[in-house]
Amino acid sequence: MDKIVIEGGRPIQGEITISGAKNAALPLIAASLLTPEPQTLLNVPDLRDTRTILKLLQSLGVTWKKNGTTLTIDSSNLGQHEASYDLVKTMRASVLVLGPLIARLGRAKVSLPGGCAIGARPINFHLQGLEKLGVKIDLKEGYVDATVDGRLQGSTIYFDIPSVTGTENILMAAVLAKGTTIVKNAAKEPEIGNLIDMLIGMGAKIEGRDTDKLVIHGVNNLKSSSIATIPDRIETGTYLIAVGATGGEATITNCNPAHLPSLLEKLRGAGLHIKEGANTLHVSRKGPIRSVDVKTMPYPGFPTDLQAQIMALMTLSNGLSVINETIFENRFMHVAELCRMGADIRVDGNSAIVSGKGRLSGAPVMATDLRASASLVVAGLAAQGITEISRVYHLDRGYDDLVGKLARVGVNIRREKE
Ligand code: EPZ
Repeated sequence: MDKIVIEGGRPIQGEITISGAKNAALPLIAASLLTPEPQTLLNVPDLRDTRTILKLLQSLGVTWKKNGTTLTIDSSNLGQHEASYDLVKTMRASVLVLGPLIARLGRAKVSLPGGCAIGARPINFHLQGLEKLGVKIDLKEGYVDATVDGRLQGSTIYFDIPSVTGTENILMAAVLAKGTTIVKNAAKEPEIGNLIDMLIGMGAKIEGRDTDKLVIHGVNNLKSSSIATIPDRIETGTYLIAVGATGGEATITNCNPAHLPSLLEKLRGAGLHIKEGANTLHVSRKGPIRSVDVKTMPYPGFPTDLQAQIMALMTLSNGLSVINETIFENRFMHVAELCRMGADIRVDGNSAIVSGKGRLSGAPVMATDLRASASLVVAGLAAQGITEISRVYHLDRGYDDLVGKLARVGVNIRREKE
């Protein structure tokens, strides 16, 4: 296993280019299962998770070619309908093949994803929604065995919680259903808009993009399309927070400022100067870091995927910050590691009370999940001395060339064998 070694205290200076969004690329890749016509995806990031879902598709008979960040996928030979446990257990987002497989083949057998470090993460809303579309679901031996007699039937589906991949799964099933499907309390994350754009480009009929009510009029088949993966707003937010932590200055390119409404407000409140361009952000921090309170919410609220990173920034303020995690039940795994670096954080239920000490000291720490590892990188950039982060395979799931991108803006960072 590899570790990342950072000598902290050097301000970030320079330009950082953002890659395509992990949480957009995964549903876009899954959507290519809906038709034998080839699909072209642009700006696809090179991540452990995108490589995993492509391996999964390959096991189903799909072929693909990657040329730089352009991916062409051909599922004309799709034959298998079973997504095995050994692939699904490494990435729970593999559940995204469920909807398209049922819509295309009338059959899907996908291993139940199981929990992960941040929570139990059930998929009951996915399954209830598919049952409303006429799918028969059997849960046995850790697998979801789903079949439909004939064609999926449009229906009205209400999500108790606006589930992101739940909305995506139902979207991908409903586009080929007979009749109209209405999804109420749908998630509104930008990644869902990206998927809707791809599906409409393939010939689907969908209304309500960016709202919590989606109306899908089923069609008989879909055709080839070409779509660009949107920039990764969580990667963008991570680097904005990193500049806040080091007190540097950076131009972030290939990003979409409109996808980070709540984060930009919070970071301005924390003392960062942020100038928005069409697809760039200019960010700097010269004065002290001010403490702000954060409550994670579904989009357009503060993203849960940036909670760990802004917590690292708050440990460097000189005030009190209350961070409330409302989406996942166990997303404070980074707290113990930050405390090893001198942070003063007290967890009380789903709130963490951070009393900023204005400084951190480098230490050997361990990554526990994808965004917790990003939080430790942010802390290491600002800490005095050396920070060694082990188990960086977590980081590789969602950050394309993080070490290279930071090294190119003046950070003393390297990756080495543990
Ligand atoms: C997506 O996960 C993202 N992953 C997550 O990003 C992100 O944190 C999350 O949305 C919230 O924004 C991908 O898009 C691949 P949910 P997802 O269904 O869809 C509960 C990262 O770091 N729930 O919106 O799995 C669930 O337990 C990852 O990139 C049910 O109870 O999240 C959670 O408490 C981490 N039953 C809440 O809803 C269900 O059937 C929101 O989950 C589905 C969800």
